[in-house]
Amino acid sequence: MKGIILAGGKGTRLYPNTVSVSKQLIPVYDKPLIYYPLSSLMLAGIRDVLIISTPEDTPLYRHLFGDGAQLGMNISYAVQDSPRGLADAFIVGETFIASDSVALILGDNLFYGQYFSEHLERAVQRIDASGGAVVFGYPVADASEFGVVEFDADGNVRSIEEKPAKPKSNYAVPGLYFYDNSVVDIAKNVKPSARGEIEITSVNNAYLDKNNLHVVTFGRGMAWLDTGSVDAMLEAAEFVQTIQKMQGFYISCIEEIAWRRGYIGSEQLSNLGHALATTNYGQYLLRLAESGH
Ligand code: G1P
Repeated sequence: MKGIILAGGKGTRLYPNTVSVSKQLIPVYDKPLIYYPLSSLMLAGIRDVLIISTPEDTPLYRHLFGDGAQLGMNISYAVQDSPRGLADAFIVGETFIASDSVALILGDNLFYGQYFSEHLERAVQRIDASGGAVVFGYPVADASEFGVVEFDADGNVRSIEEKPAKPKSNYAVPGLYFYDNSVVDIAKNVKPSARGEIEITSVNNAYLDKNNLHVVTFGRGMAWLDTGSVDAMLEAAEFVQTIQKMQGFYISCIEEIAWRRGYIGSEQLSNLGHALATTNYGQYLLRLAESGH
């Protein structure tokens, strides 16, 4: 399976922070926002990643990650000239996806929780074994700002609605989606919505119509942080700070994940740590490399 991070958009809701730099490059506590979605793809076992961004910002992502070889990853880049909707990722990424299955994660979505990796691995296995789509349902206090899952009395999914005025459940669909290869054709046939975008919700409903959409619900022990406003950015930073200080484990540390998964060895982890040695983040990498566990 391949992975796409959608990191486009103008970030207007965070102006002036994002006038001159892409939203997904500004920090959430000690690392750029895009580290968080990249770590989610890595935890799903995905090593081929395409980052889609604007013409101005794509070079900045390339500066940050290069070709990904330092992490034992394969990272490439594609430009989206104008934001046409989330499902456009599969059209921009068509050559990259080729004949593979694909996961899409929004560049501003942060996930953290026990068994999250297992959820991800199961989603990949399911698609690779039997095709279709896997998305998640996450309980939120106000679902009206999201794609929302409607369940029938037996817990089967009846519909997914995009930003409904009256949500039919409190289960929002987070920005992390797993699809078989037919998503490319589905995306090409999606009609733009009232807001002029080709919606990911329309893609999910196309799978649902074919009885091929699987929704996995998360419970309380899972954090999904959508960083859509300055307050949400600060709250996310405080969340990361709190957990990291308490546990001593870093959240979404891509170098650590690469090392624990065996994509890089301790020597390379140490090199990466030395390059960042003036920060706690770099010192953390050095400690891991030295202790070996
Ligand atoms: C998008 C999707 C929505 C989803 C949300 C998750 O909303 O359209 O279905 O629930 O991401 O972050 P947008 O960020 O475009 O408002």
